[in-house]
Parts: sequence; structure tokens; C-alpha cells
Amino acid sequence: MAEQKKLLRALAGETQDVPPIWMMRQAGRYLPEYRATRAEAGDFLSLCYNPELATEVTLQPIRRYGFDAAILFADILLVPQALGADLWFVTGEGPRLSTITTEADFAKLGPVSDIHETLNPIYETVRLLSSALPAETTLIGFAGAPWTVATYMIAGRGTPDQGPAHLLRRENNALFEALLGRITEATIEYLSMQIKAGAEVVKIFDSWAGSLSGKAFEKYALEPCRQITEALKQRHPGIPVIGFPREAGDKYVGFAKATGVDCVALDNSVDPAWAAAHVQVDGCVQGNLASRHMVTGGQELVDDTRRIVKAFGNGPHIFNLGHGITPDADPDNVQRMIDAVRDG
Ligand code: CP3
Repeated sequence: MAEQKKLLRALAGETQDVPPIWMMRQAGRYLPEYRATRAEAGDFLSLCYNPELATEVTLQPIRRYGFDAAILFADILLVPQALGADLWFVTGEGPRLSTITTEADFAKLGPVSDIHETLNPIYETVRLLSSALPAETTLIGFAGAPWTVATYMIAGRGTPDQGPAHLLRRENNALFEALLGRITEATIEYLSMQIKAGAEVVKIFDSWAGSLSGKAFEKYALEPCRQITEALKQRHPGIPVIGFPREAGDKYVGFAKATGVDCVALDNSVDPAWAAAHVQVDGCVQGNLASRHMVTGGQELVDDTRRIVKAFGNGPHIFNLGHGITPDADPDNVQRMIDAVRDG
């Protein structure tokens, strides 16, 4: 039977009159029902590791908006935790982790074979979702890209310029590469288990890819993404992969060919007409509405949405934001965006 799910059709290269649509961070604090379930769970990490409640928050935006895809509710920093790093979230500030800057710190991490013990509840969430989702909704699994995950593991927190990771990369390159290798291996195992549990697509989030330039981009953003994609496609023939090298700029060009991903997710700094000509020529693209429209709304939101749909209208496209929706977004603006995509 021909594929019916709109998202999978786009990933297979089909041009559609109305593109499939979903949103990064679509299960999140802008939704009152998310805030209620998160309060029930107690805190963010307890929510991630509770399969029933994580399933519930994943389904909330599907029920409210009828998105074409659901993304597993979890976090990219669960992999460092499964490797043995301490992880906690400070309200209003973000994640904190034990830092890795020396061989002794690295030696404290556990082997990749141990990660599933921690991550089993995540696979259970995927299983619950794959039976709970409507027939037309695609289930997306995900992980952070090794470079982005490493920036948090090295600094122990989010950093504006990824300075600590760049410093380690230069001052102890062997340790830096060993860490990246461990994360790459763990990511392959983690995503492979998500696929076995029912994920139909996986997305690799490289939120800080834009801070790597030249050869460093090739070695630490492109190459790990290529390795993960190759391993997953070997084990799970036909599994579609979305790559998100955020703020890669002109390095978006050729990224799909070089890594083997089926779709490149574009941030909102990229001009859609340019991206259609230089990135979409190689296959499906995803994006790239600015998240701020979900806060500000109005005619600008509608105009920009239509502009993006039109610019990517001659090739395979998945409509999305250029980054995650923010907690101050107005849920009504999400509906306005969806209406502008689906009704023109
Ligand atoms: O997109 C989705 O709805 C799926 C779930 C998802 C979350 N995080 C839930 C989350 C996904 C795909 C992520 C990815 C993620 N996590 C990234 C890559 C994408 C990006 O945004 O650049 C990164 C860098 C992280 C690490 C992380 N997690 C940070 C820096 C923070 C704090 C910032 C913030 O928004 O508060 C988180 C917390 C987080 N992850 C929340 C959610 C819904 C908010 C936590 C809460 O409910 O308090």
C-alpha cells in the first residue's frame, strides 16, 4: 500500500499541496494542560521518566491541534545521565550536569551497554505512543547530536558560546574526541532502541552546530551525524532521519548528501527562497518560521507562514518552526499558523 502518512510522504521526497506540520517543543509550557501534567509529575525529569505521563504530554498537542507528527517527550540530556553524569534542572535557569574536563572525569562514565537500564522508561513511552497515536500521525524519536550533547557535558550547563567545549577541543583533543566517540556510540544504541520500540523517524538535534566552522564543522558536526545515520540505516533499512545542524548557515548546503539524512531542518536565520534553491534541491527540508510569531501573532504571522509554504512549495517540505516554541507563546497563535498552512 502506498504510504498514507503525510510526514513520511514528505520524507520520501513527495511534493504536497499542503505540507505536513508539527512544531519543535510542541508539548511544552505554553500549554496549560502540559503545566498541569508536569505539576502532577513533580518535576521535568520525573515527567520524562514516567511513561504514562510522558505519553500524555506527547498526545496533548496532537489532540488540541491535530499535528501530522508527534515527537517523543524526553530530553537530549538523558543520554549523558544514562552514561553516568549527574543531571538536574534548576527552575528558570535550565540544566546542570557534573562537568567533564579531565581524564578522571571521563573515566567515571559508564559503558554504552549500560545506558538502557536508565533509558528503558523512554522506550516504554515510545511503545505506548505507537499504539495510542491516530493512524495518520507519525511518531518521531530523537537524540541530541554528539557535539551539542558534549557542550553540556563539558561545561555542566548551557553556555552562550560553547566556550568550555571549544577550549577542551583545542587543549585536550584526544579527550574531547573520546567523549564525542562515546556519545556517538550511545546515540546509535539509544535511537536504535527507539526505532525498535516504534519510532518511525528519528531526528538528530545539533543545536550548537553553528558555533563550529570549517574543518571543525566537518569533523564534529557532519561526521558524527553521518556515522549515526549510516549505522541506523544499516540496522533499520529505510528508517528516515532528520538532521538539524542549527545555524549552520551556508553549511546547510550539501549537508543531506554528505550525511545521508533524508531531511534537513532549517533554523529561521535561513532565507526560505535561498534554501529552496540551495538545500531543497537535494531533498526534503523542514522549517523555518521564527518562533517569535507564536508570541506576537497578527498579520505578520500569517504572511510569514504563507511566504515559507510558497517558497518551499515546489519540493518536499515539512512545515515547522526554526527552533522550539517558547513558554510565553499564545496557544491561539499556533492555531492561526496551522490554519494559514492548511487553508492558505
Ligand atoms: O520537541 C519536543 O516537544 C520534544 C521534547 C524535547 C524537549 N527537549 C523537552 C523539554 C526535545 C526534542 C528537547 C531537545 C533539547 N533539549 C535540545 C535540542 C533542541 C533545542 O531546543 O535546541 C536541547 C539543547 C535540550 C536541553 C534542554 N532541555 C535545555 C537547555 C532546557 C532548558 C531550557 C528550557 O526551555 O527550559 C531543557 C528543558 C526542556 N526540555 C523543557 C522541555 C519541554 C522545559 C522543561 C520544563 O517543563 O520545565
